[in-house]
Amino acid sequence: MTGSAITGWGKCLPPTVLTNHDLEMLVDTSDDWITSRTGIKERRISHVGTAELATVAGFRALAAAGLEPPDVDLVSVATCTPDMLLPSAASLVQDRLGAVNAGAVDQNAACSGFLYSLITASGMVQAGIVESALVIGAERLTYFIDFTDRGTAVLFGDGAGAVVVQATDEPGGLKGSRMGSDGSLAKLLWAPGSGTATDRVALESNHKHLAVEMNGPEVFKKAVTAMGDAAAAVVEQAGWALDDVDILIPHQANIRIIDATARRLHLDPAKVFINIASYGNTSAATIPIALTEALEMGRVEPGARIVFAAFGAGLSWAAAAYEFGSRTEPLGVSDAELPPTDGDVMALLAENFAYFGGGPDR
Ligand code: UT7
Repeated sequence: MTGSAITGWGKCLPPTVLTNHDLEMLVDTSDDWITSRTGIKERRISHVGTAELATVAGFRALAAAGLEPPDVDLVSVATCTPDMLLPSAASLVQDRLGAVNAGAVDQNAACSGFLYSLITASGMVQAGIVESALVIGAERLTYFIDFTDRGTAVLFGDGAGAVVVQATDEPGGLKGSRMGSDGSLAKLLWAPGSGTATDRVALESNHKHLAVEMNGPEVFKKAVTAMGDAAAAVVEQAGWALDDVDILIPHQANIRIIDATARRLHLDPAKVFINIASYGNTSAATIPIALTEALEMGRVEPGARIVFAAFGAGLSWAAAAYEFGSRTEPLGVSDAELPPTDGDVMALLAENFAYFGGGPDR
């Protein structure tokens, strides 16, 4: 079987920032509470749709791999917040990129989605079904966040990250993988009213809004065990000792969940990549954004043994043990950029406040 390697990486963070202090104007919370209970200081709010975030991240990852869009066989987008129900976000991205030879598909496993897509694409490359895949995690979750609900308002942010997976003769690549789900716990984190099980007429007459709803403490408990178990399992499957792990790149939902996962692997905290303070929980975009930042910061050495672990709605979880290739520098840099915006976060959220209520003048 052929090997697979991550040969390109890129991220796209919309520039508009919503700080904890901004949130103090929107909902009954405080910078102290958010920082100490989650580790988040600020998050980004997108002025464009998910496909546009994904496209910019995709261009950047392709440039880092030294590929042109027509070189790619598959565009896979992990998202639970596509621009629309159909076509898929991936089809929109495939067109915008000019990836004219690629198939395109979305995968929705919520916050675990990118790892599901990475594992699937790596398997397809290893089986010889495709030679190269652009795997993107992209979310505009704040569109579905009710900023009058302090249980969710403080947690989520928007963004996109991408990797290129290519066939290679080099050793390494995906060494272990786990994907899990417990749909009996679906109601702990869901967006009821967002699909075909909805009575649209009742929804409208009850003035019910389409929002992400979460039972935070219950999700927290399940996340700690499922992420830790999956991470430990892939280390064992890879045949690594815990000491062999060079870096843990976990989903960034809560600093206390990250710490618990690291403790489960007996990892030195210096081996854990954390950027939750800057972006909050960007769902499926979190891990490719974090991997890209870790590479940009020189935190991923050639041949690094990486553990990825994620958890999210479903409930779903996934982990991967990944031996990185010998190249950790990008081959090229893309000039793709989002359209400009003036950075006025309350103006950007005005449509959200008009829909859900609330806002700085509440
Ligand atoms: O990526 C998808 C997976 N999602 C997650 O993994 C999220 C998992 N859950 C969590 O991260 C945490 O449960 C939260 C951050 C959502 C909440 O933290 P917690 O420590 O579980 O808080 P809690 O819900 O148990 O609430 C503790 C207290 C309560 O007040 P009382 O009853 O003790 O007086 C809450 O009302 O904190 C209050 N509280 C807040 N206070 C200020 C809850 N949310 C807030 C808030 N600001 N935003």
